[in-house]
Amino acid sequence: MSNTENSKVKKVVLAYSGGLDTSIAIRWLLEHKAEEVITVAIDLGQKEDLEFVREKALKVGASQSFVVDAREEFVKDYIWPSLKANAHYEFDYPLATAIARPLIAKLINDVVIQTGADAVSHGCTAKGNDQVRFEVSWQALNPKLKVIAPAREWGELCDRNKAIDYAAKHGIPITSTKKSPYSIDLNLWGRSVECGILEDPWVEPPEDAYALTKAIENTPDKPTYIEIGFKEGIPISLNDKELGGIELIETLNQLAGEHGVGRVDQLENRLVGIKSREIYEAPAAIVLLKAHRELEYMVNTKDVAHFKSSIDQKYSELIYNGLWFTPLREALDGFIQKTQIRASGTIRLKLFKGNSTVVGRKSDKSLYNHGLATYDQGDEFDHSAAPGFIKIFGLGTKSYYEVK
Ligand code: ARG
Repeated sequence: MSNTENSKVKKVVLAYSGGLDTSIAIRWLLEHKAEEVITVAIDLGQKEDLEFVREKALKVGASQSFVVDAREEFVKDYIWPSLKANAHYEFDYPLATAIARPLIAKLINDVVIQTGADAVSHGCTAKGNDQVRFEVSWQALNPKLKVIAPAREWGELCDRNKAIDYAAKHGIPITSTKKSPYSIDLNLWGRSVECGILEDPWVEPPEDAYALTKAIENTPDKPTYIEIGFKEGIPISLNDKELGGIELIETLNQLAGEHGVGRVDQLENRLVGIKSREIYEAPAAIVLLKAHRELEYMVNTKDVAHFKSSIDQKYSELIYNGLWFTPLREALDGFIQKTQIRASGTIRLKLFKGNSTVVGRKSDKSLYNHGLATYDQGDEFDHSAAPGFIKIFGLGTKSYYEVK
């Protein structure tokens, strides 16, 4: 036995997407690191033929290949909590890729336990956030687990064209070509696109970078109005029709995407210190985040609403930075859950030419009081109380400027 073989682990479970990097990873792991590779492909609503992906892994050399339908769990335990936190990173990125990573890590660890494997592996490079999210999650879920990250080690294969050549040489079928070398991550909550021409931040993204949203030039000339019903922070209906989470998100992706809603072109600060240009498409997420935030403002007090935005910010960073399985996230969930008790009601939005605009809101828990707000008849506000209020409210400021 050679040295490399001696240091090989017995069984490694690989998070498998069916894409170029993880397909090459199967071959590379068998060559250099593991006696056996078990793959797990996870259905997060990416609408791919995962049976094909399952078989592809076996063809490339995996000893076992699993497909897990995790859509329900993804929506219930990851997407809805992040919606309750109005989670988005920097400008508009609704964290579709980031929020899926802890779930993938958890499901991979389930297979580790089921198959008695001694290591895990992913196809992430050394430059991205996803490696951090996976590995920090595994540190929490199974601290003794050995992690192998082929794409951090395989040197010249980092060059995309070389990787494509390697795949061709080993008979690994590939979907990205040398002509359109985007790296794409897709799930129910959104689509993330990077690489290729997109790496030039001055260049407008070519239309072929988009798949879920229409270009404004091709969107309908009439708006579509939608009503989203929420119960305790969770969207439960669309236009008065009750829908399960998966169907609701899929329908909204379609409806809003048709109007070009949900495109994000963002220069983003990665956790690892790199600024990168990212294209996102998240029609349903962008609409739901807007609607949810609006509803919260109607039903929560000013203090709760204002304070919550700093909690939301922290929660978003924590998702982005791969810190899902932490006591901090659990503690923030406690606060956030408390703020959702009143978040039931309906938000009405207009989808038109790339915009989703809130045009109406109602809730049984509404704190909006027409009698206090109106400038018309029926005004209940005590006008005589205003001068006294202002006198005391401004007292500190007045004292300072009198002395100055
Ligand atoms: N920059 C985003 C994030 O870190 C998206 C990464 C997307 N990955 C991809 N293969 N396109 O969450």
